[in-house]
Amino acid sequence: MTTIPVLDGREIPPETRLQEIMARLAALGPGESLVLVAPHDPNKLLRMLLSQLPGRLMWGPLAKGPNAWRWQFVGREPAPRTVCDYLIWDHRRMEEILADGLSMAQAGNWDEAQQRCAEHGIALQHHAFIEDAILFPAYDKATGNLPDGPTALMMEEHHEVRAGIERIQRAAKARDLAELEDALDALVAVAAEHHAKEEEILFPAIDETIPQPNLTQLVENMLLA
Ligand SMILES: [Fe+2]
Ligand SMILES: [Fe+2]
Repeated sequence: MTTIPVLDGREIPPETRLQEIMARLAALGPGESLVLVAPHDPNKLLRMLLSQLPGRLMWGPLAKGPNAWRWQFVGREPAPRTVCDYLIWDHRRMEEILADGLSMAQAGNWDEAQQRCAEHGIALQHHAFIEDAILFPAYDKATGNLPDGPTALMMEEHHEVRAGIERIQRAAKARDLAELEDALDALVAVAAEHHAKEEEILFPAIDETIPQPNLTQLVENMLLA
């Protein structure tokens, strides 16, 4: 089970909220994580983090409203950003969320299992979106938009991944453990192969093709999506 410290920004007075959150995030060492709960979309905070703590953090969503926005942050060494660094971290993060959801369901903690499965759905939908809308078009542009290039296949596989998310959430909602285990096995099989292709071939190719500082800019565009 993964236990990450939580900072609930809704409990901090508005006049000191931003400074307190910035201080907690600035204190994260490489590999240290924190979940922030915010009463609104944290996009302004994310922009500030990129300008005031350049290269020091990565993040991804767990919930996007309507009452609470939850974002997971991790500290990193302040080196130039790469696609491998960011998106492989996000792959591992999603796998951990899903494993947690399954453990909770197996223990009979269905409320928590449903929340973890919902968080996994948000994280994976967001991940597929930033690849489809930002990463793959940038790579296609850099390589001259090769017809039948590797990004077309990856986008096709995202459809299968999205169908897998819906099946998992239906099973969690119905509190059907056998169906949840089957749905998870099916998604893990598709995602493991998909992620391996990205991690071993596509992401390293993108990191080699797009020079710095454009590569850092590309990753920052995904972080702000
Ligand atoms: Fe993908
Ligand atoms: Fe990916």
